[in-house]
Amino acid sequence: MQNLTLGKTPVCVFDAYGTLFDISSVARGAQDILGPNWEAFSETWRTKQLQYTWLRSLMDQHVDFWRVTKEALDFTMASTGIGDADAHQQLMHLYLSISAYPEVLKTLSQLRTQGVRLAILSNGSPTMLEAATSNAGIGTLFEAVLSVEQAGVYKPHPSVYQLVVDEMRIPKEQVCFMSSNSWDAWAAKAFGFKVLWCNRFGQAPEQLPWAPDGQITDLSCLPEMIVV
Ligand code: LAC
Repeated sequence: MQNLTLGKTPVCVFDAYGTLFDISSVARGAQDILGPNWEAFSETWRTKQLQYTWLRSLMDQHVDFWRVTKEALDFTMASTGIGDADAHQQLMHLYLSISAYPEVLKTLSQLRTQGVRLAILSNGSPTMLEAATSNAGIGTLFEAVLSVEQAGVYKPHPSVYQLVVDEMRIPKEQVCFMSSNSWDAWAAKAFGFKVLWCNRFGQAPEQLPWAPDGQITDLSCLPEMIVV
C-alpha cells in the first residue's frame, strides 16, 4: 500500500460504527436472548438502521440516531419474531457499550504520538458517541467527535462531510477519511477528502465514480501509511 502524504498537520477522520466499533458485538452480547440466528438478526438491524437514515434524509424528517436505531430494532424484532420488551431494552443498552475493533486503541495512540490530528465523523448522536468512545478508552484521543446532529441530516449528505472542514479548519484535500462502510467511503471521496476504504469484510467495490484512494483491511497499517 502506498503512503499518503497529508501535509504538515495531517488530519485523520474516522467513521464510527463498523469502522472503529464492531456492530456485531451488540447482538453477540445478547446471544442468550437472540439464539443461534443472532448474526442474521444483527445484519437486519443494521440494514434497516441505515435505510431509515437515508429515508429520513430524503424525506427531510430528521430524528437522531438513537431513535433511528430503536425504530430499526422494533422492525427487526417484528420481522424475525425474536425478542420482547426486556430484550429491546438490553440491546439498546448494549449499543452504548459497543466494542471497538482490537487494533483501534493502539493505532489511534500511535497516530497521536506521530502528531496526527484525530476526529470522528458519525451518524451517531453525541450521547451515543460519548458512551462508545469512553467505554473503549479512546475518548481523549480525539480532537473532535463530530455528529451529524450538527448538520441535521445523515450521511452521505455533503453538509455532513463539510462539518470536518468547518470544525477543524482544514482544507478538505488535507483530510484522510476512513470508513468501512463503502457507501460512506465513496461519498466522502465525492466530497473531496482523501479516503481509505477499510474493507474489513472483503466486500466488492461500489460501482460508482469517486473510488477511494486506497483500500485497507483494518486500521493497523495507518501509522506507517500516514506521512507527516
Ligand atoms: C456512522 C455510520 C455510518 O458511524 O456507521 O456514521
